[in-house]
Amino acid sequence: MQGTSEKALIKSKARVADHGEVFTPPWLVEKMLDLVKGETERIDSRFLEPACGSGNFLVPILQRKLAAVEAKYGKSDFEKKHYALLALTSLYGIELLADNIAECRALMLGVFAEYLGLEPGDDLYRAGSHVLSLNLIHGDAMSMKDADGGPITVAEWSSLGKGRFNRRDFRLDVLTGMAKFREERSLFSHLGDHEIFQPSGDHPPMTVRDMAALDTETDMEIGE
Ligand SMILES: C[S@@+](CC[C@H](N)C(=O)[O-])C[C@H]1O[C@@H](n2cnc3c(N)ncnc32)[C@H](O)[C@@H]1O
Repeated sequence: MQGTSEKALIKSKARVADHGEVFTPPWLVEKMLDLVKGETERIDSRFLEPACGSGNFLVPILQRKLAAVEAKYGKSDFEKKHYALLALTSLYGIELLADNIAECRALMLGVFAEYLGLEPGDDLYRAGSHVLSLNLIHGDAMSMKDADGGPITVAEWSSLGKGRFNRRDFRLDVLTGMAKFREERSLFSHLGDHEIFQPSGDHPPMTVRDMAALDTETDMEIGE
């Protein structure tokens, strides 16, 4: 599988000074991931890396999840594909620099495609590309604004089974408010999350083909 083991830990002195861009070495990434080993091997556990660079953490988490897919569903082609896509939907990143987020998307799509033996024209490849275009966000994790200046929105994906997925969108500032709300025993703690935190967008159930049809990234790559 494609990885990040031979990458340099810095790209330039200017980028270190301007953006604190120093990548974590693979051996340290693995040690850190081992601290939450069970979660990295749970297919649908969600990870958000708010300064993801080109994916030094997200790529190995995806590799661990795909190994779990193989162990559990490797014998069924349909289930293997469905759960590999579910694994991909569970990973999120935010990154300030356009080249890093583009590299992160490409590396993760490469790992996903290689595992399933996909070609760029395949529906599942395009569905994966669509998921990554939403989950790997070009923006500022501090201000919670995307590169266009709008509020960062994250897509919450869930499996409906039989190759179908549900998507609800939440503003990141609302989600972080939700975490704080759970921490504090506030006046409203008797209310369920659903009564206070509403998604900013709700979508009808989607098949892989529906998700593929929404992909705009692959068209550019293969020049359709
Ligand atoms: C220290 S590097 C770490 C990259 C990766 N997480 C790793 O461990 O290898 C920090 C990354 O955060 C990005 N970054 C800096 N400020 C950011 C911000 N406010 N929001 C999102 N990303 C940011 C930088 O461009 C850089 O890629």
